[in-house]
Amino acid sequence: MMTPNDNMATKVTTESLDLFYGEKQALHSISMEIPANRVTAFIGPSGCGKSTFLRSINRMNDLIPSVRIHGKVFLDGVNIYTKDIDTVELRKRVGMIFQKSNPFPKSIYENVAYGPKINGMQNRAILDEIVEKSLRRAALWNEVKDELKKSALSLSGGQQQRLCIARALAVDPEVLLMDEPASALDPIATGKIEELIFELKDQYTIVIVTHNMQQAARVSDLTAFFYLGELIEFGKTKSLFTTPEKAQTEDYITGRFG
Ligand SMILES: Nc1ncnc2c1ncn2[C@@H]1O[C@H](COP(=O)(O)OP(=O)(O)OP(=O)(O)O)[C@@H](O)[C@H]1O
Ligand SMILES: [Mg+2]
Repeated sequence: MMTPNDNMATKVTTESLDLFYGEKQALHSISMEIPANRVTAFIGPSGCGKSTFLRSINRMNDLIPSVRIHGKVFLDGVNIYTKDIDTVELRKRVGMIFQKSNPFPKSIYENVAYGPKINGMQNRAILDEIVEKSLRRAALWNEVKDELKKSALSLSGGQQQRLCIARALAVDPEVLLMDEPASALDPIATGKIEELIFELKDQYTIVIVTHNMQQAARVSDLTAFFYLGELIEFGKTKSLFTTPEKAQTEDYITGRFG
């Protein structure tokens, strides 16, 4: 079990997680403890399994027919890989933000109200409140408050990504999984997303995949280095980047490969 040596409360634990796409094994016995209310970054070369592992935390891989999974993933101590787990409920608790922002072709308001509405919320005043609160938390409210009826697609790339974060926050998740959320954005929009991540960790457990090691160093408390489907090293971001324990980690962070 790879666990950061500290008294942090654990939110997600994976135990000997193996994942296969058909015959091909993409994850090899991943055992790690992801702490609550911290930012954990996943780094590693392309194809090492970062996205695959991230998706196994809210069972998004279930949607890919060839996938087989062995092992366990615990959310607050409960294994989510059992038959009686409602994956819709699970994905409310564990939200996901993708590399390419994907707002619905609807108004800004409707994008954020979407989740609460499909969960049965119909009270307009409460929906208004949820929309405002979520947009504020996503640091977008001030930019859009006068044009909530405008199409989400008319926003800039960075605004669209923050809208997607607001949409995820609207259903009150506990964990946010972010797969390279800023890699399609310019430096200013990236800076806003990074600031936002820093603010959100008080209330949420955040896991972020990034190719950008400076970004990992800036935003995360902990960093996990993956290579060829294995978790090689996991620890405090600062020590992993300054005094890595494994030669492979050192080679990667010093740019010798990847
Ligand atoms: N839907 C899929 N079907 C089959 N194989 C897949 C699928 N998705 C990923 N893989 C394979 O699993 C391995 C891990 O891929 P994954 O996308 O998790 O890597 P990654 O670390 O996120 O890479 P990148 O940094 O390029 O996004 C790769 O060999 C990839 O080809
Ligand atoms: Mg990926």
